[in-house]
Amino acid sequence: MLIRRPADIAPSEITSPALYKRRRDFLRASGLLAIGGAALLSEDALAAKLAGVVQGAPAFRVSDTPTKFKDITTYNNYYEFGVNKDEPAENAGALKTRPWTVTVDGMCAKPRTFAIEDILKLAPIEERIYRMRCVEGWSMVIPWDGFPLSKLLAQVEPLGSAKFVEFTTALDRKAMNGVRYEILDWPYREGLRLDEAMHPLTLLTVGLYGQDLLNQNGAPVRIVVPWKYGFKSAKSIVHIRLTDTMPSTAWNKAAANEYGFYSNVNPDVDHPRWSQATERRIGEFAKRKTLLFNGYADQVGSLYAGMDLKKNF
Ligand code: MTE
Repeated sequence: MLIRRPADIAPSEITSPALYKRRRDFLRASGLLAIGGAALLSEDALAAKLAGVVQGAPAFRVSDTPTKFKDITTYNNYYEFGVNKDEPAENAGALKTRPWTVTVDGMCAKPRTFAIEDILKLAPIEERIYRMRCVEGWSMVIPWDGFPLSKLLAQVEPLGSAKFVEFTTALDRKAMNGVRYEILDWPYREGLRLDEAMHPLTLLTVGLYGQDLLNQNGAPVRIVVPWKYGFKSAKSIVHIRLTDTMPSTAWNKAAANEYGFYSNVNPDVDHPRWSQATERRIGEFAKRKTLLFNGYADQVGSLYAGMDLKKNF
């Protein structure tokens, strides 16, 4: 596992004990940490050893330089806490993220309400370094910590008739100063087709840079779907519902001609008000070309075989 963190933050400052322990357990299980009396690898040696893992699994850990921790945690979209990029970091501390439950129900054999503590026990937490592309034209590279959403969905045994998954996120009118404004039909809702939700890249995410998620990034639990525009990656999830009907989503309701259900990153399909052909990576000046499916075409292209991506934007 490639451990990267901002140079100015010590691991003890940024890593919650629980995430840190899970990471160590995972490394040990993968034979990447020496056990017992043998010397532990230094972080640099570990990173070098893991370079092969990175190359072997490019979809799960792109080799692009990760965006700085500070930028990831201070340049955010979380409209419940304000529309400006710096407002979530300033205001989201008001949200209480414990106790927290996520109800998973709808078309499944075993609907259940999970305490966040039980979700954390479902699978080993992995580090995934993903490219993220916002519909507004900027991008980041984020080392997320989480596990595939499919592992949570499997717990409730989806019925054969389920075709879609709807995500509903927290709505706390006292803590969220942004919901005074009816910019969106709160609570924020998003949705995926079931096969997209079950795809191994779709990450149920609880941390980044080895630290528990900060509230502005969607604590305590969010999803991350790296081949879609960022708004598909719903933050602070409280309810996941399996359904046979395409869910209506907050941005689609607000402007259906601008934000389609699929919202796959696609340089050939412009937003009605701007081009999507290029992007600015936060921390860089020159613009980059945007890649189809955000560079994950090899992994997810088959999900859309035969579909007209201009119509199904
Ligand atoms: N989830 C909720 N509940 N509310 C939001 O406003 N914004 C979305 C998405 N998830 C949003 C949300 C958008 S537009 C983006 S680009 C990403 O979160 C940003 O995630 P980040 O701030 O962690 O980079």
